[in-house]
Amino acid sequence: MAASIEFIQGDITQVAADAIVNAANSELEAGSGVCGAILKAGGASIFEECRRIGGCPPGSAVATGAGTLKAKFVFHAVGPVYHGREKDVEQLASCHLKCLDLALVKGCRSIAFPAISTGVYGYPVAEASVIAVGSVHGWLLNHPDGVDRVIFALFDAPTFNAYRSAHETRLKMVEQEKKRRAGG
Ligand code: APR
Repeated sequence: MAASIEFIQGDITQVAADAIVNAANSELEAGSGVCGAILKAGGASIFEECRRIGGCPPGSAVATGAGTLKAKFVFHAVGPVYHGREKDVEQLASCHLKCLDLALVKGCRSIAFPAISTGVYGYPVAEASVIAVGSVHGWLLNHPDGVDRVIFALFDAPTFNAYRSAHETRLKMVEQEKKRRAGG
């Protein structure tokens, strides 16, 4: 079965998925935004485990249990603080790829991402959406049976629209490329 990429508008802690991704900081300390929602819904044990792990560099991710959330795991992805550098693009893409690799290792069939780095870390949503969606598309091409569902849980309507539109643009590009190849 080809994996589906889905978009929902709402609170990521309410999404039914094997793994929920946290928008973490490199100290793995609890914060506001997605972090705060995960702490509230999943409990302190998730962040006690983070404290034992100790930290995670930007562009990477670590796995913990999911406390009282319905998920099996929380993957703590550390996105970049936005500075408009090429490195930001690389780190935003790689933290998504790392989470998908963790899903594979942990046997998760579904994974839910928030809009990593677009809150406190200031990444413009239009740019972040293209990078996040593009990295998921790329990973799924390389791992066709890797997971069944990738869900983007976006809090507000503009972010939801941006991510969905990045996905639709990507699908159109793939179709155009297929037609070009068939014609040539
Ligand atoms: N569900 C889904 N999305 C949410 C939720 C939620 N419950 N709460 C906030 N968001 C959205 C924000 O609106 C934003 O679009 O998630 C996106 C990411 O926002 P942040 O959580 O601020 O994440 P980020 O920009 O990566 O900053 C990480 O913030 O909370 C601290 O400890 C965290 O230092 C770290 C930093």
